Amino acid sequence: MSRFATKVAVVTGAGAGIGRAVAQQLAAEGAHVAVLDRDEPGAAQTAESVRAAGGTARPFVVDVTSPTQVAEAMNQVSNEFGGIDIVVNNAGVVRYGSVPEFSIEDWNLVIGTNLTGCFLTAKYAIPALRRRGGGAIVNTASAQAFASQPDVAAYSASKGAVVAMTRTLAIDHAADNIRVNCICPGSVETPMLRYGAEYFDDGDPAVTMQQWGRQHPIGRLIQPEDVARLVTFLVSDDAAVITGAPYFVDGGLLARLGV
Ligand SMILES: NC(=O)c1ccc[n+]([C@@H]2O[C@H](COP(=O)([O-])OP(=O)(O)OC[C@H]3O[C@@H](n4cnc5c(N)ncnc54)[C@H](O)[C@@H]3O)[C@@H](O)[C@H]2O)c1
Repeated sequence: MSRFATKVAVVTGAGAGIGRAVAQQLAAEGAHVAVLDRDEPGAAQTAESVRAAGGTARPFVVDVTSPTQVAEAMNQVSNEFGGIDIVVNNAGVVRYGSVPEFSIEDWNLVIGTNLTGCFLTAKYAIPALRRRGGGAIVNTASAQAFASQPDVAAYSASKGAVVAMTRTLAIDHAADNIRVNCICPGSVETPMLRYGAEYFDDGDPAVTMQQWGRQHPIGRLIQPEDVARLVTFLVSDDAAVITGAPYFVDGGLLARLGV
């Protein structure tokens, strides 16, 4: 169980949900993990849970929408851990509303976090990956890059753009021995999904979430650990020839016609 021994991994948005599970699985297989999140208690809890399980992790309070904070964090991680091999761009937010009612502030928040955040992390991490002779990046898109709920124009636009940017990053950096892929989860049981259930809910959000789970052909919600297993595969040497593409972890959601 040491696929990532000697590797340094940066996981953004690792203070909760999917990012926390990714940080924990990477550390369980030997990676030293930089836990980046704008939420200080969340990042600290993730790092503590890794250390309690015998792994190595350190929290960094970083807002991925800030060029200066991301640049500074990548320098700090490189200096303190000796380099960077793996980047998981997971930080994300969702806001709901039809376009006429949607504020420009919420548009900028969603695009700034989900898309510009991936751009900034790649921009400031790739020089460090190059210095190590290569590495792997996973960007987090969504099933909603391909099929959408109502009221998610900004979110689905950001995720579609992540899929497109992933292609270009993969092509531009293949010669650097850097692989870049993205993942497209269905409904994953996390605080973000609960936020969505509260928006659409007309009763109990927990019931709404379970209904969403049953809409997936596998009949249940996806767990953060299910997503983390795909991420750890994509950043491992087992995926040595895999680059430039989106991978679904959606319980068959997009395979079924809604008729
Ligand atoms: N939960 C789902 O059903 C689902 C489905 C498809 C894709 N995704 C994507 O997976 C990723 C993780 O989602 P989740 O469900 O675990 O979300 P979550 O809200 O449960 O956790 C997201 C984490 O990102 C952090 N974060 C948000 N904005 C940030 C910023 N500007 N800088 C740094 N950290 C920031 C939050 O503090 C939080 O700790 C997101 O990109 C999301 O869009 C989630």
